[in-house]
Amino acid sequence: MTIDMRLGDCLDVIATLPDACVDAIVTDPPYQQTSLEWDRWVDGWPGAVARILKPGGSMWVFGTLRMFLDRRDEFADWRLAQDIIWEKHNGSSMRTDRFRRVHEQAAQFYRGEWSAVYKGRVVTMDARKRTVTRTLSPAHLGKTGASTFESEEGGPRIMRSVIYARSQHGAAIHKAQKPEAIIEPLIVNCCPPGGVVLDPFGGSGTTAIVAARLGRSAISIEKNPDHFRAAQERLRGDLLSSSIDAGVWT
Ligand SMILES: C[S@@+](CC[C@H](N)C(=O)[O-])C[C@H]1O[C@@H](n2cnc3c(N)ncnc32)[C@H](O)[C@@H]1O
Repeated sequence: MTIDMRLGDCLDVIATLPDACVDAIVTDPPYQQTSLEWDRWVDGWPGAVARILKPGGSMWVFGTLRMFLDRRDEFADWRLAQDIIWEKHNGSSMRTDRFRRVHEQAAQFYRGEWSAVYKGRVVTMDARKRTVTRTLSPAHLGKTGASTFESEEGGPRIMRSVIYARSQHGAAIHKAQKPEAIIEPLIVNCCPPGGVVLDPFGGSGTTAIVAARLGRSAISIEKNPDHFRAAQERLRGDLLSSSIDAGVWT
């Protein structure tokens, strides 16, 4: 397992990487929705990462509905697979003329055929004991046969698409730091064990840390030297305390 931390502009770094060298992408790009100095959309990044993604790979991207609509042309060559909602424990907006915003979205994109895309099963261990009988699906959902299965009390259940995770306020070293609990299911879903996950907007290194804990390699790129150094420190501390052998560091 390798954790490869790169300081630099993601477009420059990606240009140095070989074709088809990563299994998956999990990233939280600048949305360009705040006045923070680093929060500027990077033109062309969704196209640039496509070259280094292996066939069968996919990409999870955090964002807001506004961001995805504003930037839809950037994702024109990608297909949308699904989206999840990250439900936060508190909101980030001070506006009084709209709902109190307590969520963000992440969307999964892929290229080629969906049947070829890696799909890691993400479960929570909270099933209820019951017998589920599935009838034939309606034609518009695709044909599936009738089936019956027994679920066990406390057994596995496919994870719901609305995922609650406490925000990092207070404990964060980065203003936009994502909780590890929201990154973990996305990595499990899109990157096979032992595979390589890329985060072109690494920030405080959350994707790399979670990848290492899950037995995946990571390439994490960050342009801002302060964020980069903070991420290195965080990763070093985390890997030492969890005794993970992260192999080579760049
Ligand atoms: C939303 S934050 C990512 C936060 C991260 N998910 C975390 O948990 O800490 C986006 C990051 O992208 C970085 N960034 C902005 N433009 C970049 C570029 N062109 N190349 C690489 N990183 C960039 C910013 O400095 C910022 O740290």
